[in-house]
Amino acid sequence: MVDPAGDNIATVRHLTRVFTSRRGMFGPKRTMRAVNDVSLDVPRGKVTGVVGESGCGKSTLARLVLRLIEASAGKVLFEGVDLGTLPAADLRKLRRRMQMVFQDPYSSIDPRYTIRRALLEPYQVQGVTIDAAAARLRIDELIAMVGLSPRMADSYPHQLSGGQRQRVGIARALALNPSLLVLDEPTASLDVSIQAQIIGLLEALKNDLGLTYLFISHDLSLIRYFCDRTVVMYLGRIVEVLPTSRTEPRHHYSRALMDSNFEPDPNRRKVVNRLAGEIASPFDLPPGCAFAARCPAATELCRRERPVLAQHGLGHQIACHHPIG
Ligand SMILES: Nc1ncnc2c1ncn2[C@@H]1O[C@H](COP(=O)(O)OP(=O)(O)O)[C@@H](O)[C@H]1O
Ligand code: SF4
Ligand SMILES: [Mg+2]
Repeated sequence: MVDPAGDNIATVRHLTRVFTSRRGMFGPKRTMRAVNDVSLDVPRGKVTGVVGESGCGKSTLARLVLRLIEASAGKVLFEGVDLGTLPAADLRKLRRRMQMVFQDPYSSIDPRYTIRRALLEPYQVQGVTIDAAAARLRIDELIAMVGLSPRMADSYPHQLSGGQRQRVGIARALALNPSLLVLDEPTASLDVSIQAQIIGLLEALKNDLGLTYLFISHDLSLIRYFCDRTVVMYLGRIVEVLPTSRTEPRHHYSRALMDSNFEPDPNRRKVVNRLAGEIASPFDLPPGCAFAARCPAATELCRRERPVLAQHGLGHQIACHHPIG
């Protein structure tokens, strides 16, 4: 985790976010850690993937990294600067350099705005003055960058397809020349063929603009295709870090996720079916490994002691008492 070369654009240390809710309207208060002691590095110019099932804390992590929500504990360094200690005005300025792309751009673009107006919004929000002629040029440029036709500038979001709307979402994130994009399931609501086009666009933009991505998805096959490094999360914690896209997963959960995406042979999907097994309640985690109830290799030790995230080879980290292989 030490980074002597200083080539991480962001560094996350022991990040934790506690949520409190009630069971029912008058029930007792319960707390859970949506993100639990997460430490990770986001190397510059690379794609770092975060994968895990729905509810494991991916969106909470994304929002914590950009400090859109406050952490309960831990910290995020962006280019060496601790976001948690930054005064609001400085944080706002820094935000130009780190932007988020959401799963559903429709909900983040005002339906009453034309695309041109939606793309102007980041400048207004940031208080960046830009004269009308320069704004027109920049917006034409952004629209071309994401592969939309110039005449779409005067369309409304509902006139666009899902893929086109996501291109607008990406253009908006790029408006202020960020260096880091946090992409929270940017293709999850798109058809597979459109998904491939958006991934192709993201790949090209990353190379052309020298961007860094933190790319979040529940789809391990997509993550493995697109990302240089992969962080696997289960119930708020990192269970495995795969240093390259070729590293074989050795945590039982990562393996099951991979099989559920890749396995065309129904006889082999048995492992995967275990994933349908009882998922532990995030409000009441077992003392040992949170995956034990679903794991084919669980032992007494697993149920008793939580495995810590440990190095198993260069950059490969696993939190498991009995890793595969
Ligand atoms: N604002 C919130 N208040 C209470 N609980 C929340 C809040 N946001 C998320 N959670 C809970 O935190 C957990 C992680 O959610 P989330 O980060 O959205 O997961 P993911 O993006 O992986 O699906 C879930 O159990 C979710 O219900
Ligand atoms: S620690 Fe035990 S239960 Fe958890 S994944 Fe490893 S083998 Fe399975
Ligand atoms: Mg999410």
